[in-house]
Amino acid sequence: MSRFDFDTFIDRRGTHSSKWDMMETLFGVPAEDGLAMWTADSDYPTAPCVSAAVRAAANVGVFGYFADYGAYNDAIAWWMRTRHGWTIEPDWILTTQGLGNAIALCIDVWSDPGDAVVIFSPVYHEFSRKIERAGRVVTECPLAREGDRYELDLDDAQRRLTGKEKILIWCSPQNPSGRIWTAAELRAVAAFAAQNGLVLISDEVHHDLVYPGETFVPMAVAAPEAAGRMVIATAASKTFNIAGQKTGNLIIADPKLRADMATRLRALDYSPNALGLKMVTAAYSPDGALWVDAQIAHLDSVRRMFDAGVNAIPGIRSLPLQSTYLAWVDFSGTGMEFDEFNARTRDIARIAASPGPDFGKGGESFLRFNLATTHDRVSEAVERLQRAFADLQ
Ligand SMILES: Cc1ncc(COP(=O)(O)O)c(C=O)c1O
Repeated sequence: MSRFDFDTFIDRRGTHSSKWDMMETLFGVPAEDGLAMWTADSDYPTAPCVSAAVRAAANVGVFGYFADYGAYNDAIAWWMRTRHGWTIEPDWILTTQGLGNAIALCIDVWSDPGDAVVIFSPVYHEFSRKIERAGRVVTECPLAREGDRYELDLDDAQRRLTGKEKILIWCSPQNPSGRIWTAAELRAVAAFAAQNGLVLISDEVHHDLVYPGETFVPMAVAAPEAAGRMVIATAASKTFNIAGQKTGNLIIADPKLRADMATRLRALDYSPNALGLKMVTAAYSPDGALWVDAQIAHLDSVRRMFDAGVNAIPGIRSLPLQSTYLAWVDFSGTGMEFDEFNARTRDIARIAASPGPDFGKGGESFLRFNLATTHDRVSEAVERLQRAFADLQ
């Protein structure tokens, strides 16, 4: 029995929670009886050690300027070494306002308007949005679907390049699908970036929530030969459910790339949120590690429940996750178009789930369901989906 509780639902309706308070506006699903299973934050509280750090700061009661990144950087270095077998120097770390912001900064620093950025889809929808908002062009390379698994097709990707590409944004583990890339695959991606002269941004924000029997390999560990073109983006936000703190990191071993980014951060007068820094420092600790292990056991249990219930509906397939709490569910076997299975999920099951087409090519027949909630809620979601698609039984 875990000493941590992931089965008490925290009702965040009316608390300025994007996940709950925006679902009616964005999905038309009212929060009174709807289930919010879209954006990637969790319905249970963060680790007690993180809340204790916030309480300690509140007890001081003065929220002035922050100084001394020593403990913060050391905590990150400790976490990467002990959880991921990756040794970093504390001064490789540059702090951003969350990871979305980190990705946008990378696009800004290492490309110019009109340049292109490579992504492998289906992938986190904000990559293409950020590329386009910055006046750059998306070079979209679809992953190959083989049964329940996505595979890389770098020959196909090579054929799609236009010659304008400056950056490759990689997602590892992959959001959506939870695919964990092997060391050999990561080396192949790094070699592809080298061959095409691309800065390689590896977004590893989902690296901690990895299911038993699976092993995550950081890009920097798999392909040290590409360190001169590599930027690793990561954060404690998903792992510890502290996304609202907007604290993310770019970890850059190469001095030239690091100087490029540091110069831009100084020009923009970046200085991170002190509470976020304190929360991350508390999170990346032995107590935080115990909580993460307990969370993985919880997620492993709820995703098994979800998969068993959803896969019992003829034509619907939840792909087996290697990592992440984001179930990637394929409705293609129902024979329905996106509008129909999406409307049934939204209007009959009253579930707000992320639309697959937002994730790019290959997402057309999918919805993504956030499972970071209680057993009761996941069980309720399964029952609602079974009712909404009862005619397929
Ligand atoms: C792969 C990936 N990168 C970045 C982000 C955004 O991170 P942040 O909330 O720290 O901006 C997310 C959020 O879901 C994500 O899944």
